[in-house]
Amino acid sequence: MKFEKGVSNMATTLAERMSKFSGSPTSALIAKVAELKQQGKDIISLNVGEPDFGTPDYIKVAGMKAIADNFTKYTPGNGILELRQEIVKKLKQDNGIEYGLNEITTSVGAKQAIASAMMVIAGPGDEVILPIPCWVSYTEMIRLAGATPVFVPVRPDNYELDLKAIEDAITPRTKAIIICTPNNPTGAVYSEESLRKLAELAVKHDFFIVADEIYEKLVYDGQSTSAWRPSPRRSRSAPSQSTDFPRPMP
Ligand SMILES: Cc1ncc(COP(=O)(O)O)c(C=O)c1O
Repeated sequence: MKFEKGVSNMATTLAERMSKFSGSPTSALIAKVAELKQQGKDIISLNVGEPDFGTPDYIKVAGMKAIADNFTKYTPGNGILELRQEIVKKLKQDNGIEYGLNEITTSVGAKQAIASAMMVIAGPGDEVILPIPCWVSYTEMIRLAGATPVFVPVRPDNYELDLKAIEDAITPRTKAIIICTPNNPTGAVYSEESLRKLAELAVKHDFFIVADEIYEKLVYDGQSTSAWRPSPRRSRSAPSQSTDFPRPMP
């Protein structure tokens, strides 16, 4: 092919999948808030899910020490061994669930973990159930994977999962449900009973539960139950599809 200067001989369009989803509304709002603040406006941002305290000192110090020690080289793809060992311990101590090292992988954040989970679980023609209201990014992650989000409202009285509505939404194309507990945006903490019933539905209809428990420590009365406690193991799962894979660590 002969290229002429200044003339495009190729169709420089983006991939088809880019037309299927839109940008993050929260990211757009972060940019808007920054712009308004720069203009001197007095803005209180209730936008992103960030605590109002800074990163604890012991984390800052450990991060700085790691850089000073040149702990900056490539690590195994599924995470540093010591970190994965600590995650196994954490799941046992805090959540009462036992997983083996080979069932744990790490990511750079919950967003990446859930987006990657969608890419390995769902594709064109598949459906993923989303209890709503939900964190905005789930919808676009499902669409990015080529699958279709199926919205199911939570119960209006207490924002709990509506198990009957979820069961009614299940079809032969249902590949997964994404739940968030404690929930952004409602603040609901799903009961152990709801999670057990959801696990029963997942086994009966053969779909994955992707549980985002990023806010598990932000519970002010009692404790949240991890969705994994009442969920039986999916022994048929490939490692990358294991129910641990999408589980973001706080
Ligand atoms: C429910 C929920 N999951 C995931 C994330 C993003 O997590 P991370 O920053 O670890 O990618 C957020 C951030 O707002 C969130 O609210």
